[in-house]
Amino acid sequence: MHVSRWSGLLSVPFAIVLTGTFFAEAEVSPTPALAAPNAVTFPPLDELKHYTTVRRGVTREHMLTSAAALAALKAGEPVPTGTHMVLVDYQSDVLTRYLVAQKIGAGADQWEYQWFWPDRTVKADENVAQCYACHRSRRAEQFLFTLSGALADDDTL
Ligand code: HEC
Repeated sequence: MHVSRWSGLLSVPFAIVLTGTFFAEAEVSPTPALAAPNAVTFPPLDELKHYTTVRRGVTREHMLTSAAALAALKAGEPVPTGTHMVLVDYQSDVLTRYLVAQKIGAGADQWEYQWFWPDRTVKADENVAQCYACHRSRRAEQFLFTLSGALADDDTL
């Protein structure tokens, strides 16, 4: 699902970033709903655990989160504030992007989303409200599509 929706959009932001004018243009952007760094921080990947994998054709998505978040999910408790849920996207074994959901407060709806390129910069023109809207459909499962994978917690899948 992630790939087919966006694969056609990849070339434009790359071109913008390569011009080196990305940050200057972002500051004067008339469309603040798109494109912006937000509260989401780049995740501490070395501290996270690979809990499941989703495979679809040439796509391989490694899902990562903290041991504390996995323990909370297994206990049926809210994940700790600050938790990163990470989808590491590989296309034909090449790292393509990191999709990140972060719990930014104690409230059940306090999630924010961000797309990071392999160099860890933010994708300039992503409408992260769409991430939120789709994930909110899983409100009863802490905004997660891979709760069952987190409960199984198996990095060999
Ligand atoms: C149309 C629905 C939809 C949209 C929009 C969407 N996602 Fe997802 N997301 C999914 C599904 C479904 C999965 C489960 C993995 C899969 O099927 O690829 C998932 C999995 C994830 C995961 C792994 C944790 C979890 O929830 O299971 C993260 C992190 C994530 N998405 C972040 C994002 C970000 C960031 C965006 C926006 C850039 C985004 N998603 C947009 C449907 C969506």
